[in-house]
Amino acid sequence: MATLGFVGLGVMGGRIAKRLLDAGHRVSGYNRTAAKAQSLVAAGMRLADSPRAVAAGADVTFSMVTDTSALHAVTDGPDGILAGLGPGKTYVDMSTVSPAASRALAERVRERGAEMLDAPVSGSVATLEEGRLSVMVGGPAAAVERVRPILLDIGPVVTHVGGNGQAVLMKVATNLSLAVQMLAFSESVRLAERGGIDRKTAVHVLLNSVIASPMLKYRGPFVLQMPEDAWFDCTMMQKDMLLALEMGRALRVPLPTTAATNELLTAARAMGLAEQDFAALFEVLVRLSSPHPGTESGRAG
Ligand SMILES: NC(=O)c1ccc[n+]([C@@H]2O[C@H](COP(=O)([O-])OP(=O)(O)OC[C@H]3O[C@@H](n4cnc5c(N)ncnc54)[C@H](OP(=O)(O)O)[C@@H]3O)[C@@H](O)[C@H]2O)c1
Repeated sequence: MATLGFVGLGVMGGRIAKRLLDAGHRVSGYNRTAAKAQSLVAAGMRLADSPRAVAAGADVTFSMVTDTSALHAVTDGPDGILAGLGPGKTYVDMSTVSPAASRALAERVRERGAEMLDAPVSGSVATLEEGRLSVMVGGPAAAVERVRPILLDIGPVVTHVGGNGQAVLMKVATNLSLAVQMLAFSESVRLAERGGIDRKTAVHVLLNSVIASPMLKYRGPFVLQMPEDAWFDCTMMQKDMLLALEMGRALRVPLPTTAATNELLTAARAMGLAEQDFAALFEVLVRLSSPHPGTESGRAG
């Protein structure tokens, strides 16, 4: 089996690295905050002291970090992943980042004689733990086929969508619907509620109607009870909406519902809800539609 490396052992990266260990792979890893990697070390992962050391010792190196600037932080400089890459090695970035930045990075990886793939995932912590994550892959077909068996240890659906950067483009195009759907669902619940229907009843009816997508089935109930730890917080969701809007502008595709939802994510952050799951979009609507003393907003019409 190939030796694997993993840089960025956060909520998603840590769990993916665990799946790779559980599948029997040899994995070495690095996380900026080393303490977060302790449970993986206990599960058999070797802890490296830099991203470069991870890439230098691995045939296939994965990364999964927050955003484009975090990606630069782990790839650039004397201790970065790029410095550890060389001929015969493959680098797979699973972060949701700017497609243009991902393409530019792939070019720099090629200059070192290695190959890069972008392989973002669609799904949540729950989907990942259930082994049902979808992986989209961008990059040269031969490299995709080389790592496909490893990706299948992460999730059962691995789709090669095109060249470098195309998978993150697909991922951003997918993610805008998460927030847009959540906002539309919130509007339905809040309208029903303000019209006198119990919130629980409204959620039950909607989640048993034709609008109940798989995402709404697990996130819809958050309007009744928010999880203590966000599955995907408002700041992270807004990162993806901004990537979508930037791509929309560049490709001349208007994204009206993305733009409106993005504004309400800004409102969520202004209301102190930045670290809550983006289901907090519902709370934003509640605050915008709650009757104020001395107004008639309690009455319809
Ligand atoms: N959560 C989800 O449901 C989900 C689903 C699909 C895709 N994604 C995508 O997966 C990626 C990771 O998300 P996550 O939920 O795992 O986030 P997370 O738990 O916040 O983890 C982020 C990781 O990036 C590292 N990092 C951030 N800035 C860094 C920097 N400047 N230098 C070095 N390392 C840095 C963090 O290190 P520290 O531990 O030191 O902070 C951590 O390992 C994101 O692109 C996200 O959009 C997430």
